[in-house]
Amino acid sequence: MRVIEAEDYQELSNLAADYFINKIKENPEITLGLATGGTPKGTYKKMVEDHAKHGTSYRRVTTFNLDEYVGLGSDHPNSYHQFMETHLFKDIDLPSTQKHLPNGIALDINKECIEYEQAIERSGGIDVQLLGLGSNGHIGFNEPGTAFETRTHVVELAPSTRQANARFFNHADEVPQRAITMGISTIMQSKEIVLLVSGESKHHALKELLIRQSDEGFPASVLTKHPHVTIIADRSALSGIPVNG
Ligand code: F6R
Repeated sequence: MRVIEAEDYQELSNLAADYFINKIKENPEITLGLATGGTPKGTYKKMVEDHAKHGTSYRRVTTFNLDEYVGLGSDHPNSYHQFMETHLFKDIDLPSTQKHLPNGIALDINKECIEYEQAIERSGGIDVQLLGLGSNGHIGFNEPGTAFETRTHVVELAPSTRQANARFFNHADEVPQRAITMGISTIMQSKEIVLLVSGESKHHALKELLIRQSDEGFPASVLTKHPHVTIIADRSALSGIPVNG
């Protein structure tokens, strides 16, 4: 795993956006895996600015998001569909047929999971997957204890994850109990992974990831087994952890 140290969140966002923009320029038909949450917001903002200023085109790009809450439709303000519209999709030229998120209100949720996997496969697999890191080590919504073999599946969210995400809702009780998430094996099948880690609150998780043997008690530790992972972390997340450049 290569670790790139950024001065602060702003620099992390610039580095991550440039990384993705270069990938899109190298391969305009790239398939990207995308994440939601606080960490990638700055990255998406820079990608939107770049699209407006330099015209980087997403017309032939395909995207798959990591996850969606069960019970929230695509027009629900707290759905990840809406998050992606607000922070990225509405301001770039990505055709709607090429953006994919799990359907949180599918009648048959298990079928939805299978079809999501099939759609990823049909697109030729994910070329570069963007990830954030949960303070408990989750990636996507794969909570501690998730088997490394999992494909897209339904999960019960950990109380700490619901609490962490309550900031996006009017009330903590409104945070859904379940989500559909790409599985760990789905994530690991991406050709390349970029993990963004920002802020002091992620320091402990980042340290665990960098020192820990791979085990299912700490989902992100699976990344040590992937051949092409770049971690972009800011100084407050790293705070004293030596980096390998
Ligand atoms: C989001 C996701 C989660 C977040 C993680 C960190 O699609 O799958 O794993 O990446 O919870 O969230 P933030 O960035 O809000 O700290």
